[in-house]
Amino acid sequence: MDHWRNQLFFGDNLEVLRRHIPVESVDLIYLDPPFNSNATYNVLFAEQNGSKSGAQITAFEDTWHWGLEAEQAFDEAVRFGPRKLADLMVALRGFLGANDMLAYLAMMAVRLVELHRVLKAAGSLYLHCDSMAHPYLRLILDAIFGTRYRRNDIVWWYPNKLPTGGRLFDRQHDILLYYVKTNVFTYNEIRIPTEYEGTQLVTKKVSGKRIPVYDPETGKQLRVQATDKPAGDVWRINMIHPQSKERLGYPTQKPEALLDRIIRASSREGGVVLDPFCGCGTAVVVAERLKRRWIGIDLTHLAIKLIKKRLADTFPAEPPVYEVVGEPVDLKSAEALAQQDRHKFEWWALDLVDARPARDKKKGADQSIDGVIYFQEKEGGPYRKIIVQVKSGKVGAAQIVELKGAMAREEADLACFITLTPPTRPMREEAAAAGFYESEHPPGVRFARLQILTIAELFAGKKLEYPSWSIQATFRKAAPKRKGTPPEENQGNLL
Ligand SMILES: C[S@@+](CC[C@H](N)C(=O)[O-])C[C@H]1O[C@@H](n2cnc3c(N)ncnc32)[C@H](O)[C@@H]1O
Repeated sequence: MDHWRNQLFFGDNLEVLRRHIPVESVDLIYLDPPFNSNATYNVLFAEQNGSKSGAQITAFEDTWHWGLEAEQAFDEAVRFGPRKLADLMVALRGFLGANDMLAYLAMMAVRLVELHRVLKAAGSLYLHCDSMAHPYLRLILDAIFGTRYRRNDIVWWYPNKLPTGGRLFDRQHDILLYYVKTNVFTYNEIRIPTEYEGTQLVTKKVSGKRIPVYDPETGKQLRVQATDKPAGDVWRINMIHPQSKERLGYPTQKPEALLDRIIRASSREGGVVLDPFCGCGTAVVVAERLKRRWIGIDLTHLAIKLIKKRLADTFPAEPPVYEVVGEPVDLKSAEALAQQDRHKFEWWALDLVDARPARDKKKGADQSIDGVIYFQEKEGGPYRKIIVQVKSGKVGAAQIVELKGAMAREEADLACFITLTPPTRPMREEAAAAGFYESEHPPGVRFARLQILTIAELFAGKKLEYPSWSIQATFRKAAPKRKGTPPEENQGNLL
């Protein structure tokens, strides 16, 4: 472990776990998978003036459908999982049928088998779920870990959630299923302030049991002023609401206070924390602050990008050391990503020039542009627009002509064409014919109005050229913190 490096993986956690994470190498796993809530979470990009832009991009789809992939996961869980899991999956198929819930459970089952494999003997796992999937996931964990290794069904209660109305009691909690791998597990008692004034009995731990402590002179049981008590299994921690200082703009972001409690309870300094569905990196950032080592995995490039920024913003004085695995680092890996998923390639390529996605392409909206950049020539000056087109396949001059048309239609000041394959001469000529943009600040500097950049050139450090005094951040900035500091004051954390 001496040559340990924290790792951020861009990819499907099943593949990453199987290929990269060794058996019994992790002390604590926290996972917060999409809940099969049939929602598609969009990240809204804030406009420069702070208002919300119409441009949305799918961060991730919280939808699991029965299909070939689900059938394959089901088959693997039955054939290669523990025997009890096989029995359970077959029973669930009989009960639920081959529907979307079963698809979700099959996908989760194969991943949980892998997570159990990578957990150290003294390790713990917390599976974060909602009340719909909770009963099924609990059965699956019972089958994989064994019922005797189930510690708690922790209720995360967030009373600050705005009521949604409807003919049911408003949902105000999630469940954290807490399991350990063996009986010898790491557990650090978490004490929280008591809500009442008064005294409490003094106890001490003997052979794992709490027994009363007596005053040697009076023989009476000792009492002390109550200030704190061990945390129970209902955790009152406010959820991140839109005005929250912690909020970065990633859907489903969890409060740091929640992760703080889990990580302190079930790991030690230097221990390895794994979050296989890490989203915008709450577990990663808290692990770093609490001086744990960490591994984060996410399927969405947006999440990886955001975590990198969050780590840099949170620890400006001591930037964390980590490696990013799975992001294209050369032409070959960029080609592989383009082949694997064209949309992901597009989003990744847009990042290289700091463009935001123009539309939710998955929804088949306007295909003519992929990304947009807004810039100001000087602070407080008017915003100018650059449109960006990304191509991973064959390219030709017709696409440059099309981009010029889009420039006129979108009233863009400049355009950028990013291509994986080298442009042809007619393409370069067509781009050159678009002429120049002349800046006012600094006055009279000329920039090609339509710039073609290849992925190879971008890897080599070539930049899109325009007269910007700064590039605006898309996501909110995380507040700086010091490592090893005590837990943050956490918004209404009473229980
Ligand atoms: C509910 S969010 C996690 C939010 C996170 N706890 C936070 O505080 O930001 C679930 C995340 O899982 C990711 N995801 C979904 N399926 C995945 C998979 N198969 N492998 C890796 N990540 C996945 C999604 O991209 C999304 O970012």
